[in-house]
Amino acid sequence: MPRTTRILRCDSRAATTAAVTRAAAVIRHGGLVAFPTETVYGLGANAFDAKAVRGVFKAKGRPSDNPLIVHCDSLRQARSLAKEFPPVAEKLARAFMPGALTLVLKHNHSLPKIVTANLDTVAVRIPNHKIAIALIRSARVPLVAPSANLSGRPSPTTAQHVAEDLQGRVDVILDAGPTRIGLESTVVDVTTSPPVILRLGGITTAQIRKVVGRVKTVASVELLRRSPGTRHKHYSPRAQVTLVERGDTKGLVRLMTKLISQKKKISVLVHSKLFRSAAKGFSSKVNICILPSDVRTIARRLFASLRSLDNARPDIILVEKVKRASLGAAVLDRLARAARSAKTDA
Ligand code: TXA
Ligand code: MG
Repeated sequence: MPRTTRILRCDSRAATTAAVTRAAAVIRHGGLVAFPTETVYGLGANAFDAKAVRGVFKAKGRPSDNPLIVHCDSLRQARSLAKEFPPVAEKLARAFMPGALTLVLKHNHSLPKIVTANLDTVAVRIPNHKIAIALIRSARVPLVAPSANLSGRPSPTTAQHVAEDLQGRVDVILDAGPTRIGLESTVVDVTTSPPVILRLGGITTAQIRKVVGRVKTVASVELLRRSPGTRHKHYSPRAQVTLVERGDTKGLVRLMTKLISQKKKISVLVHSKLFRSAAKGFSSKVNICILPSDVRTIARRLFASLRSLDNARPDIILVEKVKRASLGAAVLDRLARAARSAKTDA
């Protein structure tokens, strides 16, 4: 059944607004509400309502073996879902909650199995965003919230992106403007020692190491077993995405020349001075999107840039790689997934 989607503007500085109160009532009645967080927009439903949670999977076209993050308004609420909260979880929570950190903990069976895809762990996060917190508080329940995109598409960083993907599939979209970080949260499994980073994200590996010392970042096979979502293709525009090494302007020019001769429609996403001038030489033939070179801005605008380039329906999007340092590692992770050719998701 298609739903009527209402887009409600809200002021992210206000603690609670009429829009949030309305959206919370929708949640309590089993509805679906897309809302802003500091990372990306999430698609929220009452985590205790199995039917509403099924609706989230359906609206996104998400495979049911991919568990959801439960969003809480406080550490107390997060703890209430866990069987145990080990000392490293305490340390990480103190340092990064609220914030772009998701903790994977052993759960205490209080949530419907569909939330955790039958695993014995639950992922919890406290968003650092007034509207998100006001919504959870006003609904008086924790909210499951995957990124509010169709499964496999780039995560949404504006309410317009959510509408592009989910108009007619959700009840309310709370619009509080673009998100601050632009990449999803870092997912850390604290059920083992040392803890394991399952997904790179808004909090860097160096930041986490500073707090807990040793952490592992898992190699692919193990990762697939432990974080089911990571085996699915993600963050993908419809066009093919090809990554170009930093500094390899010759390679970029060669590729563009070859693709133009094949009559391909090309978009490029660049940030360095060198790549900017190389791409500009082709500006009459390719669609160019230029980002500033600072990695935080690249992270913030990455998904929006991929979506907007993709809307011109190119055959291929060429993307300049970024330095691995700091948030660059998470940016490269998303780019690598977008560039993977096998379509494994709906
Ligand atoms: O920043 C974010 O994390 C955003 C905002 C909306 O909060 N949410 C988000 O959710 O990115 P989603 O569903 O798109 O990604 C959640 C990731 C998936 O890779 C999923 O497999 C993993 O977290 N995950 C969830 N529960 C898990 C669990 N119990 N064990 C291991 N991985 C889990
Ligand atoms: Mg997602």
